[in-house]
Amino acid sequence: MRLVLSLLAAALLSACAAQKAPPASLYDQLGQTAGIDQVVGTFIQHVAADKRIVHFFAKTDLKHLQSQLTNQICQASGGPCKYEGGDMESVHAGLQIRESHFNALVEDLVKAMDDHQVPKPAQDQLLGALGPMKGDIVEH
Ligand code: HEM
Repeated sequence: MRLVLSLLAAALLSACAAQKAPPASLYDQLGQTAGIDQVVGTFIQHVAADKRIVHFFAKTDLKHLQSQLTNQICQASGGPCKYEGGDMESVHAGLQIRESHFNALVEDLVKAMDDHQVPKPAQDQLLGALGPMKGDIVEH
């Protein structure tokens, strides 16, 4: 009887182990809203120190930008936030942002994600979600 019970327990245990946990959402991998806000804060610090693009932000309220970006990334990564800022085309219209500026900003974002140990696959997923916005932001 004892043998049957322990066999049963072993079978149950291995059945549980075989059930894989669902993959973490991008939002979770980024550390949810608090984690995203930290990455965005560091990202803005990198932008503010980046001579290639800092001039674009001379008149920008950086605290406001941080909260808008956090909401946008939270929403884009499957989180519960709602981005209520302007659409990407109108917000960046007339700034004459070129591809080189866009790439510089992406570099600053990657640096910030590295600083916060965001795993590379999650970084790629976020960049994949933001990449399609390039056409609305860059002027040729
Ligand atoms: C995928 C890339 C980008 C995303 C997701 C993004 C997103 C945003 C968001 C959410 C805002 C705030 C909108 C609002 O307050 O309604 C914003 C504002 C702004 N962005 Fe971007 N942006 C991107 C690329 C860039 C680049 C490459 C530059 C320049 C190098 C840039 C320059 C600005 C500036 C200067 C503002 C502030 C405008 C103001 O002060 O009103 N952005 N962006």
